Amino acid sequence: MSDKLVIFDTTLRDGEQSPGASMTRDEKLRIARQLERLKVDVIEAGFAASSNGDFEAIKAIAKAIKDSTVCSLSRANDRDITLAADALEGANRARIHTFIATSPVHMEKKLRMTPEQVLEQAKQAVRFARNRVADIEFSAEDAYRSEEDFLCRVIEAAIHEGAGTINVPDTVGYAIPELYGNFIKRLRERVPNSDKAIWSVHCHNDLGMAVANSLAGVKIGGARQVECTINGLGERAGNCSLEEVVMAMRTRRDYFDLDVGVDISHILAASRMVSQTTGFVVQPNKAIVGANAFAHTAGIHQDGIMKARDTYEIMRAEDVGWTANKMILGKLSGRNAFKQRLQELGVQLDSEADVNLAFAKFKELADRKSEIFDEDILALVSEENMIQSHDQFAFVSLAQHSETGELPQATVVMTMAGQEVTGTANGNGPVDASLKAIEVNAKSGAEMVLYSVNAISGSTESQGEVTVRLQHSGRVVNGVGADPDIVVASAKAYLNALNKLASQADRVAAQG
Ligand code: KIV
Ligand code: ZN
Repeated sequence: MSDKLVIFDTTLRDGEQSPGASMTRDEKLRIARQLERLKVDVIEAGFAASSNGDFEAIKAIAKAIKDSTVCSLSRANDRDITLAADALEGANRARIHTFIATSPVHMEKKLRMTPEQVLEQAKQAVRFARNRVADIEFSAEDAYRSEEDFLCRVIEAAIHEGAGTINVPDTVGYAIPELYGNFIKRLRERVPNSDKAIWSVHCHNDLGMAVANSLAGVKIGGARQVECTINGLGERAGNCSLEEVVMAMRTRRDYFDLDVGVDISHILAASRMVSQTTGFVVQPNKAIVGANAFAHTAGIHQDGIMKARDTYEIMRAEDVGWTANKMILGKLSGRNAFKQRLQELGVQLDSEADVNLAFAKFKELADRKSEIFDEDILALVSEENMIQSHDQFAFVSLAQHSETGELPQATVVMTMAGQEVTGTANGNGPVDASLKAIEVNAKSGAEMVLYSVNAISGSTESQGEVTVRLQHSGRVVNGVGADPDIVVASAKAYLNALNKLASQADRVAAQG
């Protein structure tokens, strides 16, 4: 049995399936680069057959990523597999991940197939995929609720056809750690050719046990791949969280005794990038990456920490990328200092022109805000990356007036397909008035389903980071915007969401 644990990141595929978390090609590419810096073993870049956008994103990632394996999901049919293989062409290391459901409820009600038909299709799919790519992963969707004898037959056949990795998902988050661990163990004992494949766990978090189940799958079951996402991003209650699994492995190496190749110093930057790109805010008490994860406020704890860190700390904040919240740059800082800080934060902009643009924005911000923190730079750069030259809508300027007892009014200047337009509207408050002023011209007809404001760093001088979730014709998108003026941040977030609504084609859901 190998003593290495393969970390398979599916932020860009299963994580992205979360309503509102869909990402553009460039956003996905940027996160893939961060995942490569993190040294994850496998990056599941998307589901090539789900949309043209996803196909193009996988293609771009396959071209750019050199160290991690790049993977595409595909249903168990020739068309999906061909698209996955085409998107991955030219990748340094490519993997096709093909899946079919094996539980009675999925086979009968969703696929309307008999078990024998599912078995046959699984075999054919692995065989077909193997002709295009050497590295094949097979997943039995809803494996945990499948009938065990049948599941063993399907897995044995998939390995026989050449699948090198067998994934056993708990698709609906129904498992309990001990039971799931023993389930994997029994499968490995019962499948005659089980030693020819690496066994993988893929757990959803519906009962809050995705990480615990995955760890049990490794410890009790002998799995040697964990499928996970940054911040536990994913549909419903999310997926197994990468940072929690990796830090559990590191911190309790005495118990797990497995090697994990992840460079943990990039964990926090990855978490922030994913949160800022998708607008899914990280809860303050989230392990490892939450704002309070290493904050010891209780007096008795602070006293202990000052005497000896290990009285209350089992991990070091700085090891996963936390730095003291100190002023790192200001108004007088030059381009080189800015560029170096970007590098230290693990941010790689695509061209010198992008660095210049980001630097100009930094100077603008430094004129308005005396202390610039790492969080400000990350927000600024992520905003820079959010603005695409082909965007339908772009923010130009905003003026608003509000006074006690009067109805607030806002005027927003923006561009629509390159043309400057101005809209004025009243609203319940300055934010409401500004978004209505945008709608004077945009006329999107979208419904707002979420609006949230977060202070990027702790004080009132902080930038506000706004997330806006819009719904239109059954699609849900998130927009994010940051600015010291929260009304401006709101307008930017709203325009970002409108751009996503305007640009993304419909996609096929992997588990649909
Ligand atoms: O949860 C699941 O079963 C999946 C499969 C497509 C692997 O995401
Ligand atoms: Zn899943």
